[in-house]
Amino acid sequence: MDFSISQFEYRQRPPVTIPSPEFLKVLSEEGIRKMVSDHYDLLTKSTISYLFPRNEEALNKAKQNSADFFIQICGGPTYYLENRGKPMLAKRHAVGSITPEARVVWLQCYIQVLSKLGLPEEVLQSFWNYLNVFSFWMVNSKENFDMRFVKE
Ligand code: HEM
Repeated sequence: MDFSISQFEYRQRPPVTIPSPEFLKVLSEEGIRKMVSDHYDLLTKSTISYLFPRNEEALNKAKQNSADFFIQICGGPTYYLENRGKPMLAKRHAVGSITPEARVVWLQCYIQVLSKLGLPEEVLQSFWNYLNVFSFWMVNSKENFDMRFVKE
């Protein structure tokens, strides 16, 4: 399994290949929801926790939206479209400052979760390749740290 993290030029939007529908087939909707939940739980303990909701209700909503999206992109029911509309994810990520370093942390949290799933390598690789490339679309800042979140 190759969990390498590619580097791109700032503002680049490299072409994305959507994950294999096998990912949803082998993991199931429930499995995707657990994967997303575990990822958020790691994010809230990571160095980029300031980007994510602290309050439990908001965090659960965030988990639901993201899981809805992943189920949809893997060829499952269009929950995301029904609940949130068109994805336009780069635009939706403009809510916070996402630096190239924040992307790496986000991806590293995914490596921890994905490596415990016990999925066939080919299926997992296809999902990883998608995350690795598409995550760069969300990078919207070169600033190393968002000073608004520095505690006094
Ligand atoms: C570059 C690393 C990324 C960071 C730091 C990041 C961070 C965030 C943040 C702060 C939010 C808003 C809070 C929340 O709802 O969780 C969010 C929402 C979301 N993210 Fe990401 N994200 C990243 C990459 C991705 C990728 C690669 C995808 C999809 C493949 C994705 C899918 C979503 C979805 C579906 C939402 C919910 C949007 C909505 O309907 O409100 N994110 N992300």
